[in-house]
Amino acid sequence: MLWTPDCLFFKPRRLKLLRKNVEVNLGQGQAHLRGSATVMELEWGDHHPHKDLLHPRPDYVLGSDVIYNEEAVMDLVATLLQLSGSETTIFLAGELRNDTILEYFLEVAMKYFIVGRVDQTQWHPDYCSSRVVLYILVKK
Ligand SMILES: C[S@@+](CC[C@H](N)C(=O)[O-])C[C@H]1O[C@@H](n2cnc3c(N)ncnc32)[C@H](O)[C@@H]1O
Repeated sequence: MLWTPDCLFFKPRRLKLLRKNVEVNLGQGQAHLRGSATVMELEWGDHHPHKDLLHPRPDYVLGSDVIYNEEAVMDLVATLLQLSGSETTIFLAGELRNDTILEYFLEVAMKYFIVGRVDQTQWHPDYCSSRVVLYILVKK
């Protein structure tokens, strides 16, 4: 999943589940919450993403557990680049499963982005885990 402030993106087969999730979290009984969320499909590497994504570029892009497949790394980075404007900050969180894939992702991403790692001292204490890493990326 990639998430920008008002849009949540998933592969097609997950869209139904994601819509349900949004409904539960922003639906009735959640009147105290502000804002809105729109669920849309976004295939990494798609050269023509929905125009709402690019005009204007999002302030934030959040990705959860999206670095796990070596074959998808180039498409993922291409999409992150497409979504990134000069004011965009990307956060990618993920479980440390496979060093080779992670190193490959970092090698490709560092060509286009300044990549930092958010230290666990900055995290909410309830969610710290030595098995999880949080990267922050901004376009060079
Ligand atoms: C390991 S799951 C993580 C799911 C969810 N973000 C989470 O943290 O529980 C990886 C996600 O990446 C999405 N994904 C994988 N390849 C993709 C692609 N080429 N285009 C768009 N999404 C993709 C999958 O649909 C899946 O939702």
